[in-house]
Amino acid sequence: MSFGEGVDVSSNKPTVLVTGGAGYIGSHAVLALKQAGYEVVILDNLVYGHRDIAEAVLKVELVVGDTCDRTLLDQLFASREIAAVMHFAAFAYVGESVTDPAKYYHNNFVGTLTLLEAMLAASIKTFVFSSTCATYGVPQEVPIPENHPQNPINPYGATKLMVERVLQDFHQAYDFKSVCFRYFNAAGADPEGRLGEDHNPETHLIPLVLLTALGQRQSVSIFGTDYPTPDGTCIRDYIHVADLAQAHVLGLDYLLKGGETAAFNLGNGNGFSVREVIETARQVTGREILAVECDRRPGDPPALVGSSDLARTVLGWNPQYADLNVILTHAWNWHQKRHG
Ligand SMILES: NC(=O)c1ccc[n+]([C@@H]2O[C@H](COP(=O)([O-])OP(=O)(O)OC[C@H]3O[C@@H](n4cnc5c(N)ncnc54)[C@H](O)[C@@H]3O)[C@@H](O)[C@H]2O)c1
Repeated sequence: MSFGEGVDVSSNKPTVLVTGGAGYIGSHAVLALKQAGYEVVILDNLVYGHRDIAEAVLKVELVVGDTCDRTLLDQLFASREIAAVMHFAAFAYVGESVTDPAKYYHNNFVGTLTLLEAMLAASIKTFVFSSTCATYGVPQEVPIPENHPQNPINPYGATKLMVERVLQDFHQAYDFKSVCFRYFNAAGADPEGRLGEDHNPETHLIPLVLLTALGQRQSVSIFGTDYPTPDGTCIRDYIHVADLAQAHVLGLDYLLKGGETAAFNLGNGNGFSVREVIETARQVTGREILAVECDRRPGDPPALVGSSDLARTVLGWNPQYADLNVILTHAWNWHQKRHG
């Protein structure tokens, strides 16, 4: 299988450790960091990550290991000049976090605390963290601003909120600087088709719709058609993964220039319903996509849309791919190449 040209960019900026850099969002961030001139080292245990993406496409050093492994982290920080850490490594299956919370508190919380302690020991105090809109729980207002109360309704969201709290305390106590990015629904793929979403198991709507278009699934389920939304289905805020990646580079630049610890939403500010996503996918792919209407799932709010004005104002973030058609076209190009 060919993944197109690798990325070779000469660097004059510091080295960043990217945990989870062999996964979906992390790999796009590695690409953006390299294009911005940063050196990158990936730490990924490959539980869900892809070795071929890290080595053949991104062409960066891949350290296969776990954020819970303090000895490995100490060696890694002692043997390289790492200026900052971007932390994507986590488990992110909400349903599994409900049935097996221990796995999530261990990996997402203990793993992150272990990483933060190793960073402190190595005097590395610049950190960019993948948080989530799941920390808000059921929204009281839409679009959701950053100062909205954070009351997660599942263990996954709770693990991310616990890390956010630790980061506030580390800022006070140790002058440890961090940016937390609360993503809405990451979607799409590298516009040049080098990278994309490849989760196994897959639970996200857009890849499920595209796998159905490819004939690898029989149908896609619509969970709930009686929500108080214009077409009765849930509305979500889909943010292109390349725009997310760009925000991470801006967040890192901001911290390295002396910016204060902060949290930013990353979304489009625009919601699309499940039916709209499926209909747009039919147009983009030109294929039949069978949709089956099912009951609501517990814990699904009718609409989750974020306000990202703060990231635009403070970081100068300017998302390029807000159009759902474009998001689906990029994802479709990747899916045909990777899964076709
Ligand atoms: N995908 C989304 O829509 C979304 C939304 C909000 C937040 N997030 C967060 O963004 C981050 C990345 O998500 P993704 O969709 O790219 O997931 P992903 O599973 O594709 O990537 C996560 C990567 O981390 C690795 N990993 C997991 N635990 C590890 C550990 N303990 N040590 C080392 N490596 C480990 C996995 O192998 C994988 O490569 C996660 O923290 C997730 O919670 C994702």
